[in-house]
Amino acid sequence: MSATKAAPLTSGTAGRLTGICRVPGDKSLSHRALILGGLAIGRTRVTGLLEGEDVLCTAGAMRALGAGVTRQGEGDWLVSGVGIGGLQEPDTLLDMGNSGTGARLVMGAAAGHDITAFFTGDASLRRRPMARVTEPLSRMGAKVVAREGGRLPLALTGAASPLPITYASPVASAQVKSAILLAGLSAPGETTVIEPLASRDHTENLLRHFGASVTSTPTNDGGRRITVTGQPELKAGDIVIPGDPSSAAFPAVAALLLQGSAITIEGVGINPLRAGLFETLAEMGGDITFANKRVEGGEPVADLVIRAGALNAVTVPAARAPSMIDEYPILAVAAAFAKGRTVMHGLAELRVKESDRLSAIAQGLSDCGVTVSIEGDTLIVEGTGGKVRGGAAVASALDHRIAMSFLMLGMAAEKPVTIDDGATIATSFPGFVSLVNGLGGSIAAA
Ligand code: S3P
Repeated sequence: MSATKAAPLTSGTAGRLTGICRVPGDKSLSHRALILGGLAIGRTRVTGLLEGEDVLCTAGAMRALGAGVTRQGEGDWLVSGVGIGGLQEPDTLLDMGNSGTGARLVMGAAAGHDITAFFTGDASLRRRPMARVTEPLSRMGAKVVAREGGRLPLALTGAASPLPITYASPVASAQVKSAILLAGLSAPGETTVIEPLASRDHTENLLRHFGASVTSTPTNDGGRRITVTGQPELKAGDIVIPGDPSSAAFPAVAALLLQGSAITIEGVGINPLRAGLFETLAEMGGDITFANKRVEGGEPVADLVIRAGALNAVTVPAARAPSMIDEYPILAVAAAFAKGRTVMHGLAELRVKESDRLSAIAQGLSDCGVTVSIEGDTLIVEGTGGKVRGGAAVASALDHRIAMSFLMLGMAAEKPVTIDDGATIATSFPGFVSLVNGLGGSIAAA
């Protein structure tokens, strides 16, 4: 996607947040619905699809690969699948924009097809490591020519006869796992991924929804062993996408921090492998209730009821990182206001997100007057237990979650916070500013 013009935003001290809202559809599930729908036989109707730029890039890529992808109405999409083995060679570059998930998962799907595809993305995505997927995909028979360090742009020629592999992933990454499982769909026999800690299991859940055989068993050391049986016939089946817990995280933390707030966020996905932030906030004393728990489209969903209250510092174990990997920027903001020292372990992966999030969080907090340090893979935030100064211009580094987190900080701080570019927010959370302001927030163009 072409780069959008930078749009600086500012947030000043807000009063209490109140009201009921819904956040846009889950980003992880939205990518997967389009990709698996494209590999299934028949028509999949997806409702609640996130229409953020990241997902629209995946929609464009699947279309270029021959799947029928059409929008019927808001969040309401039809995907006509071509069947496993049916993807066509795209006659254009696949521009995955800002999206690591889109790039890595589409590479996985393409790797099991006898086609050549060229992948690129924005400046942030072109800096991110791709060898973590191209290396195992090469073992399955794909051929990849990439820039130094396996970076984009790269050319991938899929395998005419992909080999099933057993791959012990050095990182707990749902993107790595999913890329291999998607390539494994084209291979005969069983393809297995062993992950060091359990990562989000949306790919596994959706594969089962489409009729594939997937097993997942815990390993002795806290990880998981996931096996897909290749060459299934995926049968199209409708998908309802819940609200994204990673997006709900921003208004949820703001409501905890702004005195007198009480908000409800309806229909949020609460898959246990995504819910680490809510667990952590509860440990900090945050008043968050899961009301009307139900299962929608195979995923657990609830209405989150959040009331403001004082937070206490906490130590977050490394083992929890995969279940809240995208939530450390906003947790660090909560920690700045909490009483005491919050210690977050096991954050090496934050260095290779949309930005080097470990540095971006530390820099932004420090600019806002918070005492913060990084020791190896550990982030330490000294919470004030009360006021935080704010009053800084924070660099969002092409990272939507850094941008949204610091806007939330600005609403609870003494002085306004400005971020250099709010345009990136559209990658995951279109309508963010009006949703937050509709609850009583105070975000404006800078
Ligand atoms: C995602 C997995 C995570 C996460 C990303 C979405 C996914 O990345 O950070 O935002 O949908 O599979 P990693 O697989 O790199 O941990």
